[in-house]
Amino acid sequence: MSSSIVTVRTIADLRGHVTGWKRDGESVGVVPTMGALHAGHLALVEAAKQRCDRVIVTLFVNPKQFERADDLAAYPRTEEADRQQLAPYGPDVLYAPTGETMYPQSFATTISVGGVSEGLCGAHRPGHFDGVATVVTKLFMQTQADVAFFGEKDYQQLQVIRRMTSDLDIPVEIVGVPTVREADGLALSSRNAYLTAAERGVAPALNRALCRVAEGLVEGQPASKLTADAIEEIRGAGFRDVDYVEVREAGTLRPIERLEGEARVLGAAWLGKARLIDNVPAFPRAAAGGNG
Ligand code: PAJ
Repeated sequence: MSSSIVTVRTIADLRGHVTGWKRDGESVGVVPTMGALHAGHLALVEAAKQRCDRVIVTLFVNPKQFERADDLAAYPRTEEADRQQLAPYGPDVLYAPTGETMYPQSFATTISVGGVSEGLCGAHRPGHFDGVATVVTKLFMQTQADVAFFGEKDYQQLQVIRRMTSDLDIPVEIVGVPTVREADGLALSSRNAYLTAAERGVAPALNRALCRVAEGLVEGQPASKLTADAIEEIRGAGFRDVDYVEVREAGTLRPIERLEGEARVLGAAWLGKARLIDNVPAFPRAAAGGNG
């Protein structure tokens, strides 16, 4: 089975595959990743396989979305292991372009999305969402995918990509996939590999605190009090610093104080060398919903 995944490194080669598929009337799905794949990424590939005739997984550690050189240098690069993990899921192409293919020396364009990219991670990682929006636009243009799959784990990123796709009239449908978690609630992340055994024991406290905020909102408590308590709780559990815990309207990411429509509770905090992020939904009692 593994032999059926074709690794492609150039735009011309990628276009060759896609043109053939489209000529045959096949739908094309894309799953953008930075590699170091885990079950969260694989859930996206599974969703893409269910929905589309052909699936492209992209693997590119995008320098433009790292605001710190040490973070970029430390990011795990495990292409061969990634290919082996993908094999049973049967994507058609692994598109792993070089840095020079993505950003030739003359490259001079930045896609910058307003509104939803401000605050939350946008406030703590300057330039990060410009880097994400720029590379994802390029991946959409290169793959010409009909449907693209992103995790709710990076909820602000998902909203930035939805806004950008709509604003730029890019003909791709964006599908959000619920967060895949460990049994104790920790969201799967490539950055969990940075945790020591002791830190790994502490890590689920972030998700627990966010869930408590969501429960409090449903009971009618105000966001400001709940998030202040959550920050205390996360620090008390052993996190070294909390970047934010906030409650936002689910679609627009506007700050809210009381639960009226669907909301998201989002948080980011530092545990040892790892910056962990997570988010959970909160639905008013009348409107039942799923979980993320
Ligand atoms: P990366 O962190 O590799 O994540 C790739 C995709 O996997 C993203 O859509 C992310 O939200 C999703 N994902 C990660 N952990 C997940 C989990 N536990 N459950 C469900 N989905 C999960 O996000 C990026 O790469 C980059 O910013 C990218 C979009 C590829 C642009 O460079």
